[in-house]
Amino acid sequence: MHLLINAEVRQMAESVALLRARDIYTYGLEVSSACNHRVRVNGVERINFISNNYLGFSSHPRVVEAAGMALQRYGVGTGGSPLMCGTTTLHTRLKEKIAEAYQQEAAVLFASGYQAMLGAIQGTLGRGDLALIDQLVHRSIVDGVILSGCDKRMWLHNDMEDLGALLARTGGKYKRRLIAVDSVYSMDGDIADLPAIKALADRHEALILVDEAHSLGVIGPRGRGLLEHFALPEGAHIIAGTFSKFAGAVGGFVTGPADFITHLTHTASAFIFSASLPPVQCAAVLAAFQLLDEEPQWHRQLWENVRYLLDSLASLGFDTGRSQTPVIPLMIRDPEKAMLFNKSILERGVYASPVVHPAVAPAESRIRLGVMASHTREDLDIALGIFQKSGKELGLI
Ligand SMILES: Cc1ncc(COP(=O)(O)O)c(C=O)c1O
Repeated sequence: MHLLINAEVRQMAESVALLRARDIYTYGLEVSSACNHRVRVNGVERINFISNNYLGFSSHPRVVEAAGMALQRYGVGTGGSPLMCGTTTLHTRLKEKIAEAYQQEAAVLFASGYQAMLGAIQGTLGRGDLALIDQLVHRSIVDGVILSGCDKRMWLHNDMEDLGALLARTGGKYKRRLIAVDSVYSMDGDIADLPAIKALADRHEALILVDEAHSLGVIGPRGRGLLEHFALPEGAHIIAGTFSKFAGAVGGFVTGPADFITHLTHTASAFIFSASLPPVQCAAVLAAFQLLDEEPQWHRQLWENVRYLLDSLASLGFDTGRSQTPVIPLMIRDPEKAMLFNKSILERGVYASPVVHPAVAPAESRIRLGVMASHTREDLDIALGIFQKSGKELGLI
């Protein structure tokens, strides 16, 4: 048994047991309601600040209705991978919708955003190539790079001088170089400096991949993400993303030139060797795209809530780091205090997530808040009162 339960496994099990014994373990609590602005956690209603369901579309009646109709027609899954029987009419419509939304030639769907990143990178890079990744990119990009077998260099977060120097140092040494960024950083809520990245990429003949996970539906005047935000329709060679945030659903995509998408379709193992995205998810995401255009009030309200919360947290004395978006970190900078603070706000009625080592360095420990369009002013004010009370008790403000 010691082969499986070695020192490393035991150490993790013991640290989790210790946090549970102290009653400050707040990961993966049982939820018994839809993901809305209020959510039932361990049987009690709390204000929901833990989700990425920024627009609240996961339980919007039109999304639920579209999903219900697809469920009746197609059942719970396709019974196959996309190149077998896993491409329904809804998959085709969704691919077309994504390509249109990003003004690209074609798109391919994956069963998750994580798989989309693996596929996008493994289908682009291999031995003899180089991935240049921002130090704060999502784990799915890092894992895609590992899977591809290419070389990897990290540059300082959103630091154009460092990226420029790295591009200069590695020029002429690789077949292809790919710069990979998150459009909006998932733990910090800041935005990739695409204009500067594009200028460097053009100068050094590098490719750009943007991970649109937290930007689709969120930034850009029509919620079309980073390229729309900076009015740079040709700002990236490869655009990948997920439906788990803007639609509150499941699934991922890559969009770009038609030949590249055909290539991915026949080489990306995360696409070929995995069951197809369930049609019910395609229907839900198609409905979410419609909402983005037909009910712009959600996008507007989301940003009103973001501005109100960021301003109010700052005037209470909280440090929200570099956030400019619905991803708002409350920087606590101490793992123990982050866990205690999260437990304290949970007991008072706010459900949020502590982010500690190994997700971030101990000195970067924080509580991550996800703002929703459906948060009412009352939700925000109650939550701010709770943050203030718990923050004062723990000496954070
Ligand atoms: C930046 C980023 N990329 C990719 C993913 C993966 O997406 P999915 O949840 O659809 O697997 C996430 C999810 O947390 C993310 O935050």
